[in-house]
Amino acid sequence: MARVGFIGTGEIASLMVQGLAGQGHEIVVSDRNAEVAARLAATVPGLRVASNREVVAAADIVILCLLARVADEALTGLPFRAGQSVISVMVDVGLAKLQKLCAPATDIAITIPLPPIATGGCPLPVYPASPALEMLFGARNRVFTVRDEVALNAHFGATALCSPFLAQVLTTAAWLTEFTGDADQSQAYVRDVLRGYLPENGEKGHLGAALQSLSTEGGLNATLRAAMNEANADLRAGLDGFRGRLGLEGKKT
Ligand SMILES: NC(=O)c1ccc[n+]([C@@H]2O[C@H](COP(=O)([O-])OP(=O)(O)OC[C@H]3O[C@@H](n4cnc5c(N)ncnc54)[C@H](OP(=O)(O)O)[C@@H]3O)[C@@H](O)[C@H]2O)c1
Repeated sequence: MARVGFIGTGEIASLMVQGLAGQGHEIVVSDRNAEVAARLAATVPGLRVASNREVVAAADIVILCLLARVADEALTGLPFRAGQSVISVMVDVGLAKLQKLCAPATDIAITIPLPPIATGGCPLPVYPASPALEMLFGARNRVFTVRDEVALNAHFGATALCSPFLAQVLTTAAWLTEFTGDADQSQAYVRDVLRGYLPENGEKGHLGAALQSLSTEGGLNATLRAAMNEANADLRAGLDGFRGRLGLEGKKT
């Protein structure tokens, strides 16, 4: 059990609080955004709302959920302590800057939560390794410790697959609906087909084996994949387009 403080009480903080609620942690959130803080206080037993200064003073683990543009103003002068753990979810605030803003705390890590953090099952890439993140979220979510900050930033790029992937799922479901007349059922069917084929583990070549099992020459799967070959090249080009934006330039392997 830990005393957990949130600085910044917006969308992602709210989802992370939901993911932590009911597990015996003492949770304190900053009084910004006041509306979200009040809603959390009303729904999460024992949750306290306090000033940024009080949040940092009260917490063993501080979770930073601010927009990058307010990080300097909001964090400068807060009473961080050596021995305190800090977890930042801010896009665009690097480790070197966090180390300055949160000194004398040194156990500082950056992670990338996504909305499923509220219920569990959210992949959590992190750099550097964070026992605090593992302790708070590791039981319900899989933590992926990565080797450096560049590798972490590349995970932002990988999350962008969600939108084009869902667009393809919807295109397929819309095509199916032309024959079934039932859009809800068609969407549920396409979703369930994909879930059925995705292996539990992505590592040890399981994904490649799943694809291999769908590669019968002349089969519908192999035929459609061949017809969409250029889409994969477009995907790769789109991901490479993030290199400058995510600070991945020059990184080969
Ligand atoms: N949303 C996601 O799914 C997601 C996923 C991964 C990472 N992130 C990252 O998480 C961070 C927050 O994103 P978000 O979507 O949660 O944004 P958001 O909903 O806009 O929340 C930002 C919060 O910061 C508060 N804030 C502003 N100035 C402050 C200050 N001086 N002191 C304390 N709090 C202050 C805001 O309060 P007011 O409303 O009162 O200004 C608001 O509660 C971003 O860096 C984002 O990149 C978000």
